[in-house]
Amino acid sequence: MVTVSVIKADVGGFVGHSASHPDVLDTGREELERAKQRGLLTDYHVSYCGDDMFLIMTHDRGEDNEEIHRLAWDTFIKATDVAKKLKLYGAGQDLLADAFSGNIRGAGPGSAEMTIDERPSEPILVFMGDKTSAGAFNLPLYKMFADPFNTPGLVISDPLHHGFAFEIHDVKEHKKIVLNAPDDLYDMLIFLGAPSRYAVKRVFNRSTGNIAAVSSTDKLSLIAGRYVGKDDPTMIVRAQGEFPAVGEVLEPFTNPFIVEGWMRGSHQGPLMPVSLKDAHPSRFDGPSRLVCLGFQLANGKLVGPRDMFDDPGFDEARRKANEVANYFRSLGPFEPHRLPLDEMEYTTMPMVAAKLAERWQPLE
Ligand code: 13P
Ligand code: 13P
Ligand code: MG
Ligand code: MG
Repeated sequence: MVTVSVIKADVGGFVGHSASHPDVLDTGREELERAKQRGLLTDYHVSYCGDDMFLIMTHDRGEDNEEIHRLAWDTFIKATDVAKKLKLYGAGQDLLADAFSGNIRGAGPGSAEMTIDERPSEPILVFMGDKTSAGAFNLPLYKMFADPFNTPGLVISDPLHHGFAFEIHDVKEHKKIVLNAPDDLYDMLIFLGAPSRYAVKRVFNRSTGNIAAVSSTDKLSLIAGRYVGKDDPTMIVRAQGEFPAVGEVLEPFTNPFIVEGWMRGSHQGPLMPVSLKDAHPSRFDGPSRLVCLGFQLANGKLVGPRDMFDDPGFDEARRKANEVANYFRSLGPFEPHRLPLDEMEYTTMPMVAAKLAERWQPLE
């Protein structure tokens, strides 16, 4: 068995919230290399999307392992020290806990982990988002694993034909439910269509029970009770064989759907699939970006990465994302570009409401 853990945090932006500084990423690489040398990790790859650093790790310690989570936490702390020296923006932004207390979950960083029996060939895709939020993967996961117009394998490939089970989390009430596609599709969509509250955590192949996908569902604002960052999410998806083909996993991103998390975490806009070289959202601090790194696992080694959206096949999605971005920007401070009042990460409402309290008159 091999565990793939992706743990990520924004420990400081360069410049503003637009990108990661090379010295911060190098610190991540140095720490994980040391952990590999001492045998804790089988392999690792450190990458980025915008101002978020992603630690992609393989090991044999299982999920929720204290040593692995401590390694990630300590790495983010060291990287924060570097960010502070360079006076990067929002140094340590996502590290909410004062100290590590056994598990990274609830401490600020986002995490997605899966433990698998490595197949003879094990293609995995690691998604890394910036200026978006937990729940952003609901729509693409639905398309990959439940929509035959996206994934013909659901219709024509026997190992996919019995459908997939979706583990859905209610991030506000801390509850979960497992619903099956295709049987429960209509019930499922009432939840998945409300991604600020319900997020797909895991997907399983129903005939084998094997895990197909896992995403981070950590909500920073719910952890801290106030604006502190935007839960820029990550996701791991297995491909081929009993899972969708690589191209079926990537296909949902050809239509830039709308996510929350743009400018000040308080706006909606299109999610743009980009290669690493374009993973630095600057236009109105966006539009929201998504990178996908592909690996072949070989006895726990991460063979790769391949920069999956570095493909002219996604040029049209990027062009459309810019067009949709322009349209949303034209709405200025109005919904649905601006988020509903209770979803905004920034607001002056309590202050303005208090100031104007006297000027409100009852209706006749
Ligand atoms: P498998 O070989 O994983 O069944 O997938 C076939 C394929 O890649 C078609 O695109
Ligand atoms: P991050 O959550 O990526 O730091 O973005 C903050 C923001 O709101 C930028 O406008
Ligand atoms: Mg930031
Ligand atoms: Mg970010």
